[in-house]
Amino acid sequence: FSRLLSNLSQRSLRPSFGIAFDIDGVLLRGGNPIGGSPQALRRLYADDGILKVPYIFLTNGGGVPESKRASELSKLLGIQISPLQVVQGHSPFRDLVRRFENDLVVAVGKGEPAEVMLEYGFRKVLSIDAYSSFFKDIDPLLQYKHWRNKQTLTSEVNKLNSTLNFDSEAVKGAFIVSDPVDWGRDIQVLCDILSCGGLPGKEKGPQPALYLASDDLSYQAAFPSERLGMGAFRIALESIFNSVNKNPLQYTYFGKPNPFVFKNAEAILMQVASNMCAEHKYGDSPKENQFSTIYMIGDNPAVDIKGAMKAGRPWFSVLTRTGVFKGEGNHQEYPADMVVDTVEEAIEYILNKEA
Ligand code: G3P
Ligand code: MG
Repeated sequence: FSRLLSNLSQRSLRPSFGIAFDIDGVLLRGGNPIGGSPQALRRLYADDGILKVPYIFLTNGGGVPESKRASELSKLLGIQISPLQVVQGHSPFRDLVRRFENDLVVAVGKGEPAEVMLEYGFRKVLSIDAYSSFFKDIDPLLQYKHWRNKQTLTSEVNKLNSTLNFDSEAVKGAFIVSDPVDWGRDIQVLCDILSCGGLPGKEKGPQPALYLASDDLSYQAAFPSERLGMGAFRIALESIFNSVNKNPLQYTYFGKPNPFVFKNAEAILMQVASNMCAEHKYGDSPKENQFSTIYMIGDNPAVDIKGAMKAGRPWFSVLTRTGVFKGEGNHQEYPADMVVDTVEEAIEYILNKEA
């Protein structure tokens, strides 16, 4: 009974700190947990499985809806994760729905980019795969791509139940949701859309809007050295677009290290904390609704650490050596507040500091 009482009283206290975990290069490489991530995360839960420390995943990656990513991560890491705790590079696309209410938009990237956009509330959305399939000969190399899966395209097009005529219905927005799969075709078709007022094969016209979920030059996957990310794709697209057009490419990118991503993460962490102590009402004054420290555990100095640095207090950056950063000491240009080998070591440090 006394244990129950102490558990209850502990739960009614507002946690004074929170944690944001980067995923690739900190918790996972490819699809495999690294750096003792399952054990590290388990330490944030009480013995009865109740969350003790508010935390979120703050990744520039994506490609599937947050709900699906939460269940994938739950399986991989052996804990119960809620969709609220998953903030992906493309999560802010949700806020653009009203701007494209009745407009046709194209979604690019690995996974299920069109599903992501549909879940956010976009109504007229097609993946670049499905969109390209309407234009005969748009990809002169198609016949050499034996890996293309035609089945998913048909179901996506049927879902849109389209009476749309893509010869006259212009694309108003292109969204790079996740890392593009077929760079050559995607750059070709995006140049067509963006150079010709959203109507491939037609006259030059005003550029439709282009949004990218992040601008990571590289990231750490399963291969020993970093892989080219969405930022590298952006450089390729921009350089080619600018070579074939008079006006330079206009675009907006989201993701870390943008300071608004960290502001938004702070608000979501606060929501996670509120859900943890449902019966306990926080004070009304904004001061009482702040964390004393939020730890950003990341592997990429130019993205995770720079972002936390720019966000300022209450952010505190912890750099691991399991991903993009592999150096001995600290990073020269974007030094972290703390450097550790693994995420497990990061959690040990944070829990000791906050005890
Ligand atoms: O494509 C994934 C990558 O750009 C970054 O993921 O989890 O390291 O922010 P993360
Ligand atoms: Mg990373």
